[in-house]
Amino acid sequence: MDKSELPHVNFKDEEVTVLSDNNGNSVNVIEYDGYYLSKKAIEKERIADHRINIPNIIKMHIRPDDVFLVAYPKAGTHWTWEITTMLKQDGKEQNLPKEVAMLPFETPEKIDELPSPRLINSHCCFKHLPQEILEKKNKIIFVNRNPKDVAVSFFHHCQHAVDYKGTFSQFLDFFMSEKVYHCAWYKYVLDWERVFKQHPELQVLYVNYEDLHTDPMRETDRIATFLDVRKSEEFYSKVLEKCSFSELKQSYKKRNNMDFMFRKGAVGDWKNWFTVTDNERFENYLKEKLSNPFVKFTYCL
Ligand code: A3P
Repeated sequence: MDKSELPHVNFKDEEVTVLSDNNGNSVNVIEYDGYYLSKKAIEKERIADHRINIPNIIKMHIRPDDVFLVAYPKAGTHWTWEITTMLKQDGKEQNLPKEVAMLPFETPEKIDELPSPRLINSHCCFKHLPQEILEKKNKIIFVNRNPKDVAVSFFHHCQHAVDYKGTFSQFLDFFMSEKVYHCAWYKYVLDWERVFKQHPELQVLYVNYEDLHTDPMRETDRIATFLDVRKSEEFYSKVLEKCSFSELKQSYKKRNNMDFMFRKGAVGDWKNWFTVTDNERFENYLKEKLSNPFVKFTYCL
């Protein structure tokens, strides 16, 4: 992202939305149509102002060979983006971060500058993405991770991204509420479920974060098969080595100083964070909001 090309933004108080948990821990965000991004990130880190950017993204032109990688934050977007990008680029190592191809952090103009084949990634609901997807029928990879680990990972992420100051239990209230930084997890899952049901013509590959742990070779071959770029096991091994947790953590330190994105990289860390009461509350939330999800969740290996 070339920060110099984005205009400086200083939000007036009335433009800022304050989202709070039940204990008064609050975060400052900017809202566009129910999607909340960090005020600090737009002002200081200079991601695009999504209030202006999303309407342009919705109507932007895309290429038939663009692949979309969609995931709720912390579901394993970076890991999957790295593996998929290497597969699509014949094993070429990346020196740019995933964020250069991320909507709505980047503008359509910046995305247009990226060479094909592009792997465009986003945490947005479908309505905030290029609607040409329906016409061009671009391939879509949907990354799924169990929501308890997502909540723990997002807790740590929110400490960096929006200066969240509460405890994990307090954060869990926030995570289960209707208005969350980015958007509510259950709304995101329900939105994509609706899109995939309404549009069975779309080509979709579901990738589970936990499956990437248990059988990375098989999952890499599934992604490669979906993209028509199958290779040997030896090739996949090299890709997976380059995309290991430790390699990516090191590499993102150099690429954009965002190695905090690579925190622990484990399945089941939620057990170290959820109290018995938290777990009961969360199970009730799941039952109430998402009794029969279209994707299955794996909580431990
Ligand atoms: P944790 O916070 O649980 O460690 P996203 O890219 O969607 O923001 O997801 C980030 C999560 O994926 C983080 O989870 C991060 O550590 C994990 N992750 C990233 N790369 C990984 C890898 N190569 N192997 C395992 N986990 C990885």
